[in-house]
Amino acid sequence: MQITRRRFLAAPAALSVALLPTSLLAAVEAETAPTPDLSTWESVRAQFALDPAWMHFASFFIASHPAPVQAAIEGYRRAIDRNPFVTVEHGMFSEGADNLHVHVQAEIADYLGARPQDVCLTGNTTTGLALVYQGLPLKAGDEVLCTTHDHYSHHESIRLAVERSGATMRMVPLFEDAASASIGSIIEALLKGIGPRTRVVGLTWVHSSSGIRLPIREIAAALRARAGQPLLLVVDGVHGLGSTDQTVATMGCDYFCAGTHKWMFAPRGTGLVWANAENWARLRPLIPSFTDLDQYVAWERQQAPVSPTTADRMAPGGFHAYEHQWATAAAFRMHRQMGRARVAARIRALNDQCKAGLAANPKVTLHTPMSAGLSAGLVAFEVQGVAPAEVVKQLLARRIIASTSPYAITYARLAPSLVNTDEEVERAVRAVREISG
Ligand SMILES: Cc1ncc(COP(=O)(O)O)c(C=O)c1O
Repeated sequence: MQITRRRFLAAPAALSVALLPTSLLAAVEAETAPTPDLSTWESVRAQFALDPAWMHFASFFIASHPAPVQAAIEGYRRAIDRNPFVTVEHGMFSEGADNLHVHVQAEIADYLGARPQDVCLTGNTTTGLALVYQGLPLKAGDEVLCTTHDHYSHHESIRLAVERSGATMRMVPLFEDAASASIGSIIEALLKGIGPRTRVVGLTWVHSSSGIRLPIREIAAALRARAGQPLLLVVDGVHGLGSTDQTVATMGCDYFCAGTHKWMFAPRGTGLVWANAENWARLRPLIPSFTDLDQYVAWERQQAPVSPTTADRMAPGGFHAYEHQWATAAAFRMHRQMGRARVAARIRALNDQCKAGLAANPKVTLHTPMSAGLSAGLVAFEVQGVAPAEVVKQLLARRIIASTSPYAITYARLAPSLVNTDEEVERAVRAVREISG
């Protein structure tokens, strides 16, 4: 008997086929409001149910679901609640256009400039990084090189992986002061840090410590051009995806991990890893997949799969909050409608305004580069004589939501994004001026 995707982890096919809506996607779309007008920033802001009593400058932490995403979640939730078995069995395991997992991969791939089958759906950046580092065939004697600037999730993903494999990890600084770093100095510091045992390099695209945006494309080219052993480049891209006009799949990194619940406005609890087929094939899966038919068929025969590892095989299986996972497509569609370049230009303009305003204050030290080429949507700063936590507290008292960076050396952060206005940025800058005395 031929095994189809539908049979994969599913109950008898005949039962579900008889109960199926013609197209789950079409049925959900017919029930949801038409795509809103997103041609002005005011209309984009109107999609968010954010409390207007506050100025939200920490949206990069975790997003408020905009209306199209909320509507998609609600549509899928209603469908699942009406008929959990048929909806999930159909949405996950059917062939062709009705497979919502494949639909989400296709929407994401369009944005990344990638092939849909190379997009692995995860729950967040952390899970993606852990899957990649645990999946790499590291062995004793190998070294993973990362930087002193990376996030807890990145460092710990490496540490836990090298602990198991007998490999080692090492961190190098790429700069002393992010604000004065240049593309050349960053590349030079990284190349100098590479040792004879380095096999993997882990970097962060936009640093949530200082707000610097690494020139990943240039770094990847420099890594390729150097003599010596080939290296794999793993990128934590969470704060660049959705804030920067880059085609991720052509940037030159080997593994790109990001949550989509921050700048992309996809549902909370969603994320992705992208790699090409050759790099997926290097990895050893960690968690049984529910989306890789080969693995399932091999299991039925009590064998290990013989085909190479793919994005689908790396995707953590078990049943998920599917209304959230499937509604990821709506967020990527929303970004396509707004336009990646237009979104990036807006974020750049608001951040330029914020940086210029803060830089004009002699009591403020800006840690984010002024150059738009080396920054994105995060502005990290210090106020002379006022601790970062105190700056954030005093901003909060003025109904301005900022944050401190969760690193050993911490700064205050403002992150102007699509939910903010020029006027709000001006008010935040003015508030910092008041706090600085
Ligand atoms: C640079 C960086 N990487 C990873 C993470 C963790 O992200 P996630 O919640 O998607 O796992 C964060 C959190 O904001 C971050 O700033």
